[in-house]
Amino acid sequence: MDEQAADLREVVRAKYAAAASAVSAGGTACCDPQGIEVGENFGATLYATSDHTELPAEAVAASLGCGNPTAVAELREGERVLDLGSGGGIDVLLSARRVGPTGKAYGVDMTDEMLALARENAARAGATNVEFLKGAIEAIPLPADSIDVVISNCVINLSVDKSAVFA
Ligand SMILES: C[S@@+](CC[C@H](N)C(=O)[O-])C[C@H]1O[C@@H](n2cnc3c(N)ncnc32)[C@H](O)[C@@H]1O
Repeated sequence: MDEQAADLREVVRAKYAAAASAVSAGGTACCDPQGIEVGENFGATLYATSDHTELPAEAVAASLGCGNPTAVAELREGERVLDLGSGGGIDVLLSARRVGPTGKAYGVDMTDEMLALARENAARAGATNVEFLKGAIEAIPLPADSIDVVISNCVINLSVDKSAVFA
């Protein structure tokens, strides 16, 4: 990775670290002084009310996506799902419910603060079939052919090497 790409990735990491820290401190992910803004067509507004009520408030508060992949993904009992850039874990937790105890939902994220928040949210939700892994979505830390369904919510747009993500 060249220096410019590394600098850009660090800007992204720092913004989402700040957002995660804000939620962990009881605040909101949006509108922090470092510049993340979440309008009415972003984040938790894109999920059903039933999703809000069944998830930990911190998972909903940390929602920073621009869609709702769980509304369109065909997930079945027993499948293994991977969420690229899982943030506070909202889509991993919703996927985990859909694939059930014989399935598993993984989240990959590069930001320690987001990973810590996601793991706390999994514990709050009582989810046991989830795992959050530290890593870059350009070099996924899982073996090839170990996943049935890949989802992502407003993250590939942030990648400095989109070809690597799709590969
Ligand atoms: C816009 S937020 C979306 C989070 C989550 N998907 C959601 O819907 O709430 C972007 C997330 O992707 C992570 N991220 C951004 N670029 C990444 C990369 N190249 N590799 C791994 N994680 C990345 C950030 O740390 C952050 O948690």
